[in-house]
Amino acid sequence: MRYLVTGGCGFIGSTLVDRLVELGHDVVVLDNLSTSEGDRANPAATLIEASITDLDAVRDATRGADCVFHTAAWARIPRSIEDPVGTHQVNVNGTLNVLQAARENGVPRVVYSSSSSVYGDQPTHVMREDMPLQPRSPYALQKLMGEQYGAMFARLFGLRVASLRYFNVYGPRQATQGAYVLVIPHFMRLRDAGKPLTVYGDGEQTRGYTHVSDVVRANLLAATADLPPGENVALNIGPQEETSVNEIAAIVGGEVQHVVPNPRGEFEELRKSADYSKAKALIGWEPLIPASVGIRQIAAPHSVIPTKVGTQEESVTP
Ligand SMILES: NC(=O)c1ccc[n+]([C@@H]2O[C@H](COP(=O)([O-])OP(=O)(O)OC[C@H]3O[C@@H](n4cnc5c(N)ncnc54)[C@H](O)[C@@H]3O)[C@@H](O)[C@H]2O)c1
Repeated sequence: MRYLVTGGCGFIGSTLVDRLVELGHDVVVLDNLSTSEGDRANPAATLIEASITDLDAVRDATRGADCVFHTAAWARIPRSIEDPVGTHQVNVNGTLNVLQAARENGVPRVVYSSSSSVYGDQPTHVMREDMPLQPRSPYALQKLMGEQYGAMFARLFGLRVASLRYFNVYGPRQATQGAYVLVIPHFMRLRDAGKPLTVYGDGEQTRGYTHVSDVVRANLLAATADLPPGENVALNIGPQEETSVNEIAAIVGGEVQHVVPNPRGEFEELRKSADYSKAKALIGWEPLIPASVGIRQIAAPHSVIPTKVGTQEESVTP
């Protein structure tokens, strides 16, 4: 099979590309290297260095593909707040280009990397796809608009679209700077710099953390599953198992310093995890790596340690 992976040099995209190559597929990567390095590009894949905002380049890259995995985005919440217009160009107009190029080239299916941030504030902490969505940042709204364009293309043009709502993805190659820097590498950097791990509030805030290999598997399943035609299939890709900041601090190890009161208190959801029963029913996906195991693996002292100690803001995940 021939696959196009937009953003195929990023954290999730490059891990997906490696797996597709390993499975013997013909892979094209479209990436402008804006938030990643070209050295992540798998040498067995064809790298097209261009932006998804360039419709002609997306058309060329899409030709002959059996499916597009659309992971390219400005995946940074603070950046979207600073620059809603610029991030809209990439996250919404770029996504529209990908859908349009797929349609023009007769590509039957697009698997879109969406985000659990589309849920925003909810009365309960386990997210379900049928909840009314309340995006709280331009980034979250842009991700939702990408989903909605996918739904429109499914309805109007019969394109099969799966929107995968990822919950806090972690694993090797995860970002060490920016909004998606999880608390995990942030704590690792502090530990290795001999500094205390700063925990906002009581540290009992929880999230569902998803190993990148589980995210890659979700993409592969969504590429081949029998998706209902004419609709955008939005699926939670995350665990129901919650992990608290205190638990992560204990796994990483080191002295802990609580910052009280929590300066992010009014913005931060206390708990957030995924009901993944729809993904299980429609594409046969469930998480295989419990956070307690996966986080322990990457937080071990022999792991690659980022050198720069970032700010606490950078450690926040949506
Ligand atoms: N990492 C997470 O926890 C998480 C959670 C929810 C959703 N997501 C979504 O998953 C996707 C991948 O996230 P990631 O963490 O791998 O991010 P990343 O920043 O590591 O990768 C994004 C890739 O897209 C490329 N890119 C950015 N703008 C581009 C453009 N205009 N044209 C072409 N390429 C461009 C970047 O160079 C980079 O290689 C994104 O769509 C993101 O919104 C990620």
